[in-house]
Amino acid sequence: MLATPIDPILFRKLLLGWYAIHQRCLPWRATKDPYKIWLSEIILQQTRVVQGLPYYERLVAQYPTLSVLAHATEQEVLRSWQGLGYYSRARNLHQCAKTVVQQYQGEFPNNYRTLLTLKGIGPYTAAAIASIAFKEVVAAVDGNVYRVLARIFGLAHDISTLQGKKYITQLATALVDPLYPDRYSQAIMDFGALQCTPSLPLCATCVFQSYCNAFHSNRQHILPVKTAKIHKRKRYFDYIMVAHGDTVFMKKRTHRGIWQNMYDFHLVENSQRLTLDQMQDALLNLLQEHRLPIVTFTEEVTHLLTHQTLLIKFHKVEVSLPFLQMATACLTEMALEPFATAAVEALPKPIVIQKFLQKRLLEKK
Ligand code: ADE
Repeated sequence: MLATPIDPILFRKLLLGWYAIHQRCLPWRATKDPYKIWLSEIILQQTRVVQGLPYYERLVAQYPTLSVLAHATEQEVLRSWQGLGYYSRARNLHQCAKTVVQQYQGEFPNNYRTLLTLKGIGPYTAAAIASIAFKEVVAAVDGNVYRVLARIFGLAHDISTLQGKKYITQLATALVDPLYPDRYSQAIMDFGALQCTPSLPLCATCVFQSYCNAFHSNRQHILPVKTAKIHKRKRYFDYIMVAHGDTVFMKKRTHRGIWQNMYDFHLVENSQRLTLDQMQDALLNLLQEHRLPIVTFTEEVTHLLTHQTLLIKFHKVEVSLPFLQMATACLTEMALEPFATAAVEALPKPIVIQKFLQKRLLEKK
């Protein structure tokens, strides 16, 4: 049996009808403040709603206006973002707030084109903000939208190619409701998240059932077509944590790449896992032939990033006061700075580092 063709008018009617009943009650939907809508959209890039919600609440409480955010330090913003991952989003968020204050008198630009020029705002986010906050008739097209449209319209275009994305974006643009682009954007997001889900779509109760090509040809699990797989690079990290009582030596990651401007420990990175002996040698060299105190090793922790798999081991070097006095110059040379417990807590840190430190504190109690 073939799916019944569907035109844009019927598509909008069914989608908005579904949304009227099933929409999620989300705090950024109770406002037209572009600052809060922008903030929610940046959080929701690469983050699920349930995960993002508490961060949204906390960030709004901590930075109630754009100006408060612009005047915070980058370190504060990174600390507030800690745990959300993709920390370049936090750096760009802060930069964007500063730009809006300096170049736009603190007023968020009210159109797609100008929004696109701001740091951290790509086509999807610009379209989401422009449609939701300013009712501009533009399509916010992300992975959810590709999936919904590829299934309903039976599009076998490969969404890992530019051409495939372009085709679906053109269709998405033609479908946007010219009267209610704000509701339409939110509706298609919720529909993708709640009804037309990636692995177990709720076809039995779907308002598009009669019209859905994927349903009629049983291709829900094939569409959308995405051939390119992300290649994950493996990286082996050996962290050396030097501590003396409540003082922990931390290092700021100043170079570009993951976790820029956040704090971790001294890092030895290799393309293979080091043996224990090799690690001891590395430590010995590192601490410039000072006598090595007891080193404790932890199990390997695996940390998944989008394009990288980090295999992380921690080596604890708990030093005594005489050792510390001997090693001070060496630690300074390694760019390690001493921080007391409360100061460590206030530093922005990758979540693996935060967890390791919490565990250490618990063990010391
Ligand atoms: N995902 C991205 N933006 C969203 C929004 N505004 N509401 C729900 N889910 C989203």
